[in-house]
Amino acid sequence: MIRLTEIDHVGIAVEDLERAVQEYRRLLGVEPSHRERVDDQGVEEVLFRVGSSFIQLLGALRPETPVGRSLARRGPGVHHVAYRVEDIEDALEHLRDEGARLVDDAPRPGSRDTLIAFVHPASMDGVLVELVQERS
Ligand code: CO
Repeated sequence: MIRLTEIDHVGIAVEDLERAVQEYRRLLGVEPSHRERVDDQGVEEVLFRVGSSFIQLLGALRPETPVGRSLARRGPGVHHVAYRVEDIEDALEHLRDEGARLVDDAPRPGSRDTLIAFVHPASMDGVLVELVQERS
């Protein structure tokens, strides 16, 4: 069974993370609440809390990373939408049973001590979808 509880975050690919952080502060009046370098995903991310969700700015650590390739292909912009789920194993099992194309067959560690898994955009009307389970 899959149960979405919140929109966890919207991931936005940016060319220049420092500049983007300053623009979000200046234009939207939000302050960074978390910053983390996730080496196995090749990204540095900055989170702004909005209610119980986040805006996630993503900078590529290198060009040959998923976000780096996305920036090269499509330029900056919305990269993925992440839904918070109660049980990510159950959610993946449900998606697999329903024939969805998964990027991750099993959950892996995300930032903020979460577990994450991506669903391929081919199964989601062109949107890269991430599932997030909090581990606290
Ligand atoms: Co994300």
